[in-house]
Order: sequence, then C-alpha cells, then structure tokens
Amino acid sequence: MSVQKISILGKESIHVGFNLVQHISDTLLDTLPSSTYVLITDTNIAPLYLQPIAATFALATDARFPNKSDPARPRFLTYTIPPGETTKTREGKAEIEDFLLRHRCTRDTVIIALGGGVIGDLVGFVAATFMRGVRVVQVPTSLLAMVDSSIGGKTAVDAPLGKNLIGAFWQPSYIFVDAAFLRTLPVRELANGLAEVIKTAAIWDETAFALLEANSSTLLTCLSSSSPALDLNHPLLTLIISSINTKATIVSRDPREAHLRGLVNFGHSIGHAIEALVTPYVLHGECISVGMVLEAELARAAGVLGQVSLGRLRRCIESYGLPSTLSDKRILEAEKRIVATGGQPISVDTLLDRMSVDKKNAGKLKRVVLLERIGKTRELRATGVADEDIRKVLCPAVRVVAGTPGTYAKPPLPPPMLELPDADPTQLSGPVPNAQIAQVSSATSAPSRKAATDIPHITLSTPGSKSISNRALVLAALCKGTCRLKNLLHSDDTQVMMAALEQLKAATFTWTDNGETLVVTGSGGALSVPPPGTQLYLGNAGTAARFLTTVCTIVSPPNTTDTSRAETTTITGNARMKQRPIAPLVTALRGAGATIGYLESEGCLPLSIKPLGRLPGGTLTLDASLSSQYVSSILLCAPYAAQPTTLVLTGPAVISQLYIDMTIELMRDFGIEVTRERDAASGDLLNVYHIPRGTYRAPESGEFVIESDASSATYPLAIAAITGTRCTLANIGSSSLQGDARFAKEVLEPMGCEVVQTETETTVTGPPKGKLRARGEVDMEPMTDAFLTACAVAAVATDGGVGEGAESGEGKNVTRIRGIANQRVKECNRIQAMIDQLAKFGISTRELPDGLEVYGRPLPQLTRGASIHCYDDHRVAMAFAVLATVVDGTILEEKRCVEKTWPNWWDDLENKLGVKVEGVQLPEPAKTVRTSPAPKTPETIPSILLVGMRGSGKTYIGELAAQALSLPLLDFDAEFSRVYQQPLRSFVLERGWAEFRKAEITLLLELMKAHARGWVVSLGGGIVETLEAREALKKYAKAGGCVVWVQREPEEIERYLESETERPAYGEPVRAVLERRAPWFEECANYVFGNHTALPGGASALGSGALEAEVSRFFGHISGLRPNLVSTNANRSYFLSLTYPDVAPALPKIPELTTGVDAVELRADLLHESGLQIPSPSYVSTQLFALRRATTLPIVFTVRTVSQGGAFPDDAPVEAGKLLKLALRLGVEYVDVETTLPAPLILDIVSLKGPSHIVASFHDWTGSVKWDSVAMKAQYEAAAQIGDVVKLISKANSVSDNFKLQDFVAKVAIASKPLIAINMGAAGQLSRVLNTTLTPVTHPLLPTAAAPGQMSVSDIHRALHLIGLLPARRFFLFGSPIARSPSPTLHNTGFAALGLPHTYGLLEGESITDETRAILASPDFGGASVTIPLKLDIMSVLDGFTAAATTIGAVNTIIPCQSPDANKPRLLLGDNTDYLGIIGAIHAVSPGLRAPGSALVLGAGGTARAAVYALHTLGTKQIYLYNRTHSKATAIAEAFSSIPVRVLDKLGNWPAGAPSVVISTVPADATTIETGPGFESKVYLPPNLLDASTKGVVVDMAYKPAETPLLALTKRIAPTWATVPGVEVLLEQGYAQFEHWTGRRCPREIVREKVLQWYNA
Ligand SMILES: NC(=O)c1ccc[n+]([C@@H]2O[C@H](COP(=O)([O-])OP(=O)(O)OC[C@H]3O[C@@H](n4cnc5c(N)ncnc54)[C@H](O)[C@@H]3O)[C@@H](O)[C@H]2O)c1
Ligand SMILES: [Zn+2]
Repeated sequence: MSVQKISILGKESIHVGFNLVQHISDTLLDTLPSSTYVLITDTNIAPLYLQPIAATFALATDARFPNKSDPARPRFLTYTIPPGETTKTREGKAEIEDFLLRHRCTRDTVIIALGGGVIGDLVGFVAATFMRGVRVVQVPTSLLAMVDSSIGGKTAVDAPLGKNLIGAFWQPSYIFVDAAFLRTLPVRELANGLAEVIKTAAIWDETAFALLEANSSTLLTCLSSSSPALDLNHPLLTLIISSINTKATIVSRDPREAHLRGLVNFGHSIGHAIEALVTPYVLHGECISVGMVLEAELARAAGVLGQVSLGRLRRCIESYGLPSTLSDKRILEAEKRIVATGGQPISVDTLLDRMSVDKKNAGKLKRVVLLERIGKTRELRATGVADEDIRKVLCPAVRVVAGTPGTYAKPPLPPPMLELPDADPTQLSGPVPNAQIAQVSSATSAPSRKAATDIPHITLSTPGSKSISNRALVLAALCKGTCRLKNLLHSDDTQVMMAALEQLKAATFTWTDNGETLVVTGSGGALSVPPPGTQLYLGNAGTAARFLTTVCTIVSPPNTTDTSRAETTTITGNARMKQRPIAPLVTALRGAGATIGYLESEGCLPLSIKPLGRLPGGTLTLDASLSSQYVSSILLCAPYAAQPTTLVLTGPAVISQLYIDMTIELMRDFGIEVTRERDAASGDLLNVYHIPRGTYRAPESGEFVIESDASSATYPLAIAAITGTRCTLANIGSSSLQGDARFAKEVLEPMGCEVVQTETETTVTGPPKGKLRARGEVDMEPMTDAFLTACAVAAVATDGGVGEGAESGEGKNVTRIRGIANQRVKECNRIQAMIDQLAKFGISTRELPDGLEVYGRPLPQLTRGASIHCYDDHRVAMAFAVLATVVDGTILEEKRCVEKTWPNWWDDLENKLGVKVEGVQLPEPAKTVRTSPAPKTPETIPSILLVGMRGSGKTYIGELAAQALSLPLLDFDAEFSRVYQQPLRSFVLERGWAEFRKAEITLLLELMKAHARGWVVSLGGGIVETLEAREALKKYAKAGGCVVWVQREPEEIERYLESETERPAYGEPVRAVLERRAPWFEECANYVFGNHTALPGGASALGSGALEAEVSRFFGHISGLRPNLVSTNANRSYFLSLTYPDVAPALPKIPELTTGVDAVELRADLLHESGLQIPSPSYVSTQLFALRRATTLPIVFTVRTVSQGGAFPDDAPVEAGKLLKLALRLGVEYVDVETTLPAPLILDIVSLKGPSHIVASFHDWTGSVKWDSVAMKAQYEAAAQIGDVVKLISKANSVSDNFKLQDFVAKVAIASKPLIAINMGAAGQLSRVLNTTLTPVTHPLLPTAAAPGQMSVSDIHRALHLIGLLPARRFFLFGSPIARSPSPTLHNTGFAALGLPHTYGLLEGESITDETRAILASPDFGGASVTIPLKLDIMSVLDGFTAAATTIGAVNTIIPCQSPDANKPRLLLGDNTDYLGIIGAIHAVSPGLRAPGSALVLGAGGTARAAVYALHTLGTKQIYLYNRTHSKATAIAEAFSSIPVRVLDKLGNWPAGAPSVVISTVPADATTIETGPGFESKVYLPPNLLDASTKGVVVDMAYKPAETPLLALTKRIAPTWATVPGVEVLLEQGYAQFEHWTGRRCPREIVREKVLQWYNA
C-alpha cells in the first residue's frame, strides 16, 4: 500500500493512495486518540463500505485495547443520513448534532466524514461548532470531494436563497483520499468530479489540462467495481494528485480566501447561481462546467482570453460529457421539473439575483475569475466585473447599438493584482478593487484606428477559413507523421471534425504555443471503426458530414475476432442535419462499391457506413449540381484507393467550382497532384479529374498556415461600406483561393466603395452614409456564402444605381442577386430567411429561381428595433449585424449561432470594430408555464365525440352536453342520412352492411376533419366495428381530444331497442352485439359517462335536474371549459371522507353530510363488494355514478393501501393503478396517488389526468418521519413533482409536533404547491384546525372517521374561534320595511350549521344614520345586506364597488375586505348579488342552460337592471325589455351602454325569436292574465308570451304570493317550462352573500329547508 503524503498549511495531512482503510484506522488510533470516533456517512455509501470499515476499525482497536472492558477503549459510533444536496441544510446539521448529544459525545470526539462533498461540508460544519469545535477527519468518497471539497477546510450548509451561505473554515486533521472508493461511484458523479479537476488545471496547471484533453475516453471508463488497484502513476491518480497539490498550494498561501484562494472559484460565480436554481437535478460539477465556459466568455469579451483557449476549455468540458451551455438539455429538463413544482425558471435576472448573494461580491461589482489562457488567470484573485458585462454573456440575444465603427470603447477593467500582498493569514476578506482606475489593461484590445483620414479606419484580421481549416484537418490527419497547423479556425465545425477524426483513430491532436498551433499526428490513412454503440455525432456541421462520409469508407475493416470495434461506422447529426441532403454523394460512393445505409430518412443522415479499407478506384461518377463538398469529399480520399481514380462530374451544372479548385490546391500542398482533363479539340476544361494513388505528406516546413476566412471578411468590409468608414483586413487578398475574397471588388466596388486589394490585404472605404448605389444584377455563383452580406448592403443601396433601368431611374434601388440557388439547402433556406427577415426592416424583395431581388430603401425609412430570427445560421446573424450598425435597436435573437465560424464575433464587433453590443433576454413564452393557461373557449376546444351502444342515450346526453357547453350538436346518423340522401335503414337494406361500414368510416374521417373543434358529435353505435375507425378514435383521444363512452345498463338498452324500428335491426341478439362492442368502446374512449337508470340508493331518482347537473359538470370538467375544482380563492377548504362500504345508504343524507365541505372523498379501498377482497372496476364505477348523481361537489378518489393506513392490499399496485386510471376515465376531479406506488405507474397515471388534479400523498402512520427531518422534505419534493396538490400525513405524539408541522409548512410555502399537512391522532388535532387546503373532515352522521383525530367542519370552526383565529362577526340587514325579511333565518341557520360564531340582525331605517355609520366602522362588522330604500344611498359610504354593482347601479351587499393601505386596513366593498340569485335559481331548475337565444325582462326598476345583467352574464344573445311606461324601459336600455337591450312596445311580438327565459320584476298584483274592466292599469300577460312548443324558464321575482299570475299562466299554457318563484331567487342571492362573507360554501339544503318552513308558516 503506497501512500503519497501532501502537505497543506505546513502539515502533511493529505494522504493519497488506493485501498487505505487499514491505514486510516491505524493512523487515527495512533495519532488522534479519542474516547469516541463517530463515522457519519450517507445511505448510498453505508451499505457499500460501512461494515468493512467498522470491522477493520474494530480489529485495529482490539490490537491496541485487547481488554474489552478497558475504560480507555474508544467507542466507534456510526450515523447514516439521506444522500444528496437536500440534506446539506441547517436542519440536517441539527439532526447530526442531536445524535451526537444523545450519545453523550464530548469535546474529545473525532468525527469521520465518509462520503462526497455533501457529507464533507455538512459534517465538517458540525465539527466546527459542536462543543465549540471538535476534530474532524475527511474521507472523501466522490471524486469531487477528493480533489476539491475535502481540501481546504471550507464547510457549509445551504439556505433557501443559495448554496453554502452558512458555514465556517474548519481544517480537518486528516484527509484520506482513497481512490478505491471511486470503483462504486456512478460515471455521472465521476464526470462531476472531473469538472473540478478541469477547473483546477485551467487556472493553474496547463500540463494537467493537456493530460485531461488527451485522456477523456480512458478516464471515464478506467474504474469498475472489479477493476484492479491503480498505481500512483495512473493518469487518474496523477490528475487527482496534481489537483490536490494545486489546491493545497493555493490554500496554504491564502487559507481564508483573502485573494489567491478566490481563484478556485473559477466557474463558480455563475455556476453557483445556476446550481441554486437547478439543484438537485443538475450536479455541482455540471453547473460549474457551464459556469466555467460562461466565465471564460466573460474573459474573452473583456479581451483577456483568446478564442483558442476558450475553445480548448469548452471542448475539454464537453469531452467528459459535461454541459457547456445553459441550453444543455439536462439544465432545460431540470428547469422544467423545478417550474412544475412551483420553482423559478432560469432567466438572466434570476441568475444575476442569485449571483448577488455570493459571499465574494465586492459592492456593485461581482467577483469573477478571469482566465487569461489555459493554466493562467488574469490576476492572482478574482476580478470585479460589472453586471452589464455578465448580463451580456448570459443573454441568449444581443442588441447592436447603431453607430459609427471605432467610436465605442468599453470601460477598462480594474488594474490586475499580479503579486500577492504580504499574506496575513488571519485576514478575513481581501482588498476590494472599488476604484476603477482608467487604465487600459495590456490585454484589452481597444479599437485600433489609423489617424490619416478624417473617417474612422479599422484594421483587423478575421478568423481562419472554415473551408481551409476543415480540409487541412482531413489532409493532415491522413498524412503520415506530424504536421503543425496554424491559424486554424476554432469553431464548432472544426471541433466536430477533430473529435470525429480522433474517434476514427485517424490522428491525434495536441496544442502548443498556448493553443496557437495544432500538432496533428496522422495515421497515414490507417483508420478504425469506433467501438460498438458509438456514433460520430456531427451536430449541424455540414462540411464534416460530407467529408467524413467518404473518409468512413476507407476505414480498415475490423478483423472478425475484434469485438471492441463495431461492424460499421454510424454518422449522425442534429435534427437540422438530418434534413440536409447527402444522396448524390452516397449514390456515387455506392456506385464505386461502398456499402452505405440510410438509418432514418432516405437521402439524409444518419448513415451506416461499412469500412472497406480502400475504395477500388477507377472511374467514379458524381452529380455535382447540389454541392461542391461532395466532390471535395471524394477528391480528398481518392489517393487512398486501390487504383488511380477518375472522377467524372455530371448533373445540370457544377456548383462552386472554386471550392473544388481549393481542394485540389490544398491537396497539392500536401503532395498529391490532381489533374483536370481538357477537351482535346477546344482545350476547354472538362469536369473530369484524375487522382493518382499516394499518401499525403506535410509541407516541407512541417507547417501549414491557414488563410483567413473570406466569407467572414465580408462582414467588417460591409460595415465599412454601409457606415461610410474604412476597414483593412490582413491575411486575405487577391491571391486568395476563396471565392468570397472577390466580394469587395465585385460587389462593394460597383456600389460606390473604394476598394484597394493587394495579394494579401484588402481595404474598403465606404461612400458617405446613405450613398451606396444599387448594384443592378450580380452573379454571386462564385461567392454564394457572401450573398447574405450583399443583401444587407443592398437593403440601403438607393443612390444612383447601376445595371438595367438605372439610367431611367427605374432600377435605382434594385439589386438582383443570382447564381445562389444552392443557398436554399444550407443551414436553412437562406433565400427565404433573407426575404422574411429583411421584411422586418420594411425592405421588399422578390424571389427568383436562382436568387432574389432586393429593393433598397433610404436609411431613415427602415424600421427600427426589428428582432431578427437567425435560424441558427451564423451567416444570417452576421449579415444582419451589418445592417444593425445603421438601424438602431436591431436585436439578433440567437447570438450563439456565430460560433460556427466566428465564435467571438460579438466581442470583436465591440472590441475591434468599436460598435457597442448589449445583452438582451427575449421574452420566452414557453417559460411562463406557471401562469395558468388562457381560459379555454367553447369554439376552440377539440370536439367531444360520444360513442356507445344505440339506446344508451348518446343523443340525449349529447343534447344536454351541447347545451351545457354552448356548443352545436352533430348527430352522426342524421348527418349520414343527409349526406347519402337515404335513411340508414334503407341504405343497409339496399346496399348491405359492408357497404354501409365503408360509407360510415369515410364520413367519420371527413367529419373529424371538418368538425375538429367546437362540436359535440354523437357517433353511430356501430362505428367501433371497423378497425380503421377504432384507430382514428384512439389517435384522437391520445392527442388530447375527448372520446366519451356513454354507458347504460344492458337490460335498459335491450328494452329500448325492442321498441325501435327506425334504424336497421342487428340480425343478432342485442346482448351479443353489446358484448362484442364493449371492449372496443373501452379501448377507444378516454372517458366514460354513466347514463344509468337504476343506481344504488335510487340515486337517479334524486331530485329533478340531477342528470342535467351531472352532464353539465362532467362535460364542463373533462373539456377543460369549467374544471370542477375547489376554488383556490377560498381561505380554507375541506373534503368529506366517506367511509361507507357501499355509498347507497349515504346518498339521501349527502346534503347534510356535505355541509360546509368543498369536495367528497370516495375511499375505494373501503368499498366492500361481497365476496371480493378488491372491489371490481364495475362496482367502483357504479358507486361513483351514484355518488355523482347525488352531489355536484368535486370527488376525491382514493385507494389507500394498508401500509399507508388504508385497507387496500400493499402487494396489488397493478390493481390500485387500474382503479386510479378508471377514476380519471370517469372524470373524477381529484385522484389521490400514493408516492410509494411504482414510479412508472405514477407517470402513467399523471399522463392521463387531463383537467383533473393529482393529490400526491404520503402517510407515515407511525409518526417516525419527523416534520423537521430532511426525510420529510424529501417526501415533499417527491410528491410535489407528481402532484397538483401535495398531501403529507404524519402522527403527533405531543402537541409540539404540530408546531414543527407549521414550521415545515411555512418553509415550503415559497414553493407554493397547495399542501395538505396533517398529524394524525388526538394530539394532532390542532394541525387539522390549522391546515387550510382540503382538510379531510368527518361528519357526526358517518359510521366511522376515516382517520384517528379527524374532525367535522363545525368542530374545526369552533376550535378556530376558541383559539382566536375566527373572531365572531356581526352582520346586518339595512333597509325598511324589513321586519318580515327571511334573511336573518337564512344566514343564522347557515352560521349555526357550519359552527361559525357569527350573528345576523336587522337595522331598520329609511336613511343612513350615525348608527349605520358606527356599525360600518366597528371592528366586528362582518358585512350587510342592503334593501330598499337604501340600495343607492348606501353607495356614498362605501369605498369601492364590484363590476356587477357598478353595472347594475345599486348595492345589495356590503363586504369588508383587506386593503393594502396600512392606514386604512379595511375597505368596504359594494356588491350586488341579485343577479347571482337569478342565475343560481335558473340553473337550479335548468342546470344546462347557457347562452339562451333570447330572453325577456318585465319591468324597469332596480330589479330589472339586475335581471338584465344576469341575462347578459348568462350569455343571452338578445335581451328584450318591456315596461308599461315605455320611457322608463328606454332609460334602462340606454344606461346599459355595453349591453344591447331591445325595448318592446308590445308583448308577444318577438323580432329576434320568442324568449326561452322570462323574468318578471313587476309586483305580482301589477300583472294580470285577464283583460277587461278593472285590469286596465295592470301589465297584461298574453298567452303567446310563452312558446309552449319549446322548453324554457320563467322567473317571477315577486316573492308573495307563492303563485303569481305569471306562474299560473305558465303552468296552464306551457307546462314543459320550469318556474322559479321569487323566494328561490332570494335564497340564491342569500347563498351568494353568505359565501362572499364567510369564504365558505353555504349549506344550502339546510338553509333552504328552514327558510321555506318560515316562508310557508
Ligand atoms: N467545501 C468546499 O470547498 C467545496 C468545494 C466543492 C464542492 N463543495 C460541495 O460539495 C458538494 C458536492 O459534492 P459531491 O459531488 O461529492 O456530492 P455528494 O456528496 O452528494 O455525492 C454525490 C453522490 O455520490 C454518492 N457517492 C459518493 N461517493 C460514492 C461512492 N464511492 N460510491 C457510490 N456512491 C458514492 C453520494 O451518496 C451521492 O449520492 C456540493 O454541496 C458542493 O457545494 C464544497
Ligand atoms: Zn466546486
């Protein structure tokens, strides 16, 4: 056992090795004597290591203390806690401390922290404060802990606002780094630790970084549980040791993080902010990986770090599978989960906010470590950076501030601290750079300007050419030996190419000259297939995809025994890549003998390519009209063929000849001479190339310099052109091989620019701003990539003009670009992209077959502030950046897309071109998931399809549903007869069943298309007979539509069908048909509606309108139009737990039982179907149907298992799942899902929930999970992920357990998921009283309570009153005369039923008096009803009004409410519930009634106004108003400016159809149904007032006598109409008042009974 000792803070306390457990025991016992050793670990590590460690320790103890009763013999205690970041809290710390105290641990205790960083940080912090500090030993088991967290003595716990905010410096006595622990560490955790290794190397140690770069694939796979011991020279141990050494060095020089130690926070300033938002789903190392890249970008933007180093860092991070951007799918996925549980989404502001609680901040500046190159930071501490700069890096989009190049210079960074101050090890915080001294840092490249002329002159060189870089990489890799590549482009494309070449073992790559030079060691063409299961992932790198397709064919085939290699190479890319064409190349290669398969779509990636070793050579034919890259791809590999190759290009025209020439030229540089054939007669060049056999050689010098990219060069040159300034580019001139190098001469010069070009340099000077000439026609075929730049310039080219029409002035603004058809199949359809995005500036264009015309406009006419979509295409982004320099406020939406060819474009635009760029965060609609979705409207919901047996009542239910949802109904059979012009029956008789089914499915598919939204469709009963129809229905349901199976008892169906003749007879027994179809209905429908005639307890007979109410509620809910959920506005809510084995006996008592509750729970586990342990689905459905017919309250469906305190067997999760899914199919509103069910089952249930809510529940029957334990927090988090409501139940042993529960609730309240948190048992009753959401309650009439300690609603209210949380309030009726008012009876009955301590009394008076005012002002005033004559007068003493009161113009209810103003804490709100009374009363007799076509109001007083408002709220299309005094009616109609009201001269004459609702507000004795003498002064109600042929509702507001003339008339002439006497309206408005005042549902049935008793007395 070799141990390497590393010194930290002057002591050799770090011991590194492999298999150190014995060494640890010996060292502790010998050098840290103690009476008690306490080992603390987590539940992941304990089962793996605890036992052997304890055994080793015991043996070592025995050896030293052979006598077991020796008082000096130390104790060895162990304690295990839950794993993960959620444990690292103040509570987690307290739990450990309690353990130590319980075991009487004293100051001489030695604590051993065995585990990852979480254990290390937490246990370290415990040790730091326990008994004012005890000794601690770190035994890190995760890589992260080994290399980072265990070293240096920083300990901490997290707080809700951020990570590590509370902690201490506490140096461990020892740190034992035993790499053997890594054998069980999951790979993801290994990579997580490597992130810290990368960090340490990046700031301090380039050698270690190079080791990391070279070993990514081996490091991640070197350890498995069975792997042999690693020696200290293994790269993993080398890296661990070097990392530890670096950290130890830094810590030793600055133990308290005054300056130098700040460096190890590289990546953490931003990384911690990310981590605070995505914990625990994304790991620490993963967050700091993103943080490192972003902080490196910050350094690059500040001009401190070069792109080469940044590229290395990012690539290294990615090679370990670590995330490098905020858009990494791990982070997005985590964000989704966090948001779903009520957390915050990631935005630039939240990140900056989190960064602002960083301990290391210095005033307004945030401390960030700025990297200067790999292995070195800008200064020996973190640098103060402004928010604005961080914001820019974090933002996904940029805004270019229009301005003259060279005029913007960024404020410089504070001067660097390059030497360490004399360290004062006790100093707690370092010097803060608060003075921004104006001094340009040596590394900052301010815009360089030449002074000679009066216009700004920028000089720069652009990044290496992508085309040349990619070719050079392939050439150098195919070389034998080494080749040094200089000025290689560092971009995604080249990174992808290098990674793929490495995977193919084509070459190895190493960086020298601080990353300026890439040393390529080529294999000479000996390539191998990557191991099985690996793919070459090419992202969206088109060049790599094309070149590598041929490269993969020349890979050597593996010998048959080699299982480490796959049989074929697979290349693939991102979604966009998978659409880009590759067919011509594949076809050509197949023609040459290659075997290439398309794995997804024909003609595109992914490809599977068989290794051939060599292509045969000979003649090869290729269609080169789509891309020259196909040609280059073959050319590059052709020398490695078995025979010399002749490449013949075919197709309409060869595209981009220049790129072909470039490839040939570069091949020549690498020693292979390609010859192009000439026509013997004419001497013209032919499209035939001869490639000899050979092997590439590096150029003589061993070095190859890559020319700058000519396409990139077009942007700064175009900026000079468009802004009227001058720009000189080095490294690109007339000798360039790149087509785009002609852009300056051929496009810009004719537009009025001055262009000077030498062989290697280009200078463009633009004409004065606004003076660019339109170019006329330009053929850009040789420089297709530059056409986007040309478009940007052409957009403002209006002056003069060249080309056709220019003289006449007609073509003044036309630039016609041709020869660029291939740009339609680039990163995006670039022609379309330019057309669409130019339009945002107000620029018109016209598309041509091979290009487009751009019609320039004068600059001032261009639209400012355009937000440009870049299609993830670098060229689109940079081209529009050119235009943005002259059009203010332009936003480029995806700044990162430039990474492809000019990764630091935006930095260069600011730093080198001197144009300011700002960060912008675009509003992201997708992230606003938390705000409730826009309310659905009937017209837009997917149509509801009804299926079911004929005779099950589909059409009737359909009619009711359609009425309830205000949707039209389509009857399939009727539609069939209409379309085929023949009744169903005769169609079948004439043409047979087979023909009928065919016609039926055709019509179904048509209807599903034509009536996709906003219909209720009742389908034919036999529709499920055809497979095609079933598939269509299933697909529809799966996509979110509702397919409802209307069910009825088979006997009922039989009975009905026997009497029916209209439709064809089945020709077989009804029962047989039913049995055959039932499984099909079951499979097609995602909902079931029970239209049963006979239900347990005679449920169907309960009250008229029960079925209508059920249909309205059911369809309103499942369609999402009116989800039947408990209102979230109520201050408390309850549900009643029904504990019956059969609900039937409860049904008649439901009104009383549900007093005061908001929902009813059906405990399916308690249902008892005779002879069965588990009730059958059909029994459970019937029970549900019956319950639902008896109550409109939402139902909570629960299957409680035995271990959670219920009766359902624990070992039957499948059956439990079946019942839960059944409940969702039946439209049950809340489904209780125990978090202990199998995860896949839970996911399955959650995916089916539709508008229903999941109550995710966890019950600890024993009370062993404490509210202040981390375990309970973990339970909350698990439940919050699946539930809309979280339910946590524990058990109280003493009353104080309820206070712990309250603390818990207060803490998770920020997470804002509705939470039911309750302690069972008598001692837990207080928690039931204090719980506010969906408290489960019982009722004295129930056989048993569902849980120990359960209380009734009125018990809870009484308890709340007694403990002062529900003070008694006084309520009043104001008005006169009121002595005979039923209101006191109404409200006092309600208060009593709910156990509320309030009283309701009268204050009779005709005006507002001092007494009234005193009552209104008294603190115990709870509210008042207001009646005549005060409904208007009262308004003057109120503070505000509801919309209803304002529109109706009167107040009948006063509601005190909380005001935000502290000086006037209570406001009096005036409301009018009269209209609610009218609506409520109408719905009570006609539940489905909505949006009547027309309705009539009689009278023109205050009540008439309420009636009009009620009808308007109901959605009435035409409201008629009739009053004897016409002018009064007109006055009302005019007062309702926003509600159209039609005043009638005469009753019985209906200009827009007869009314289906009539509301009389006239006193009963003022109406008559008789004519003649004595009745002249009364309103005559003619018999044609009501249309007896339809159904309707009559409301008479007069509440005495019980039968008014209007009601009498209705009974006589329209008996089908429903009637509402005034007292019912009064009741309904009273319920509404009650509910406003108390926030509780009024116990309607009880109140109603009392009031009617009183009324009839
Ligand atoms: N104090 C510091 O200076 C410092 C520095 C860096 C990070 N940190 C902190 O460290 C924490 C992260 O540490 P971590 O990544 O080690 O997390 P961790 O402690 O949660 O360990 C990661 C996971 O791996 C498991 N595990 C650990 N070792 C194992 C092994 N040998 N075999 C099997 N499973 C094993 C753990 O149970 C856990 O589930 C964060 O809280 C971070 O803030 C502190
Ligand atoms: Zn860290």
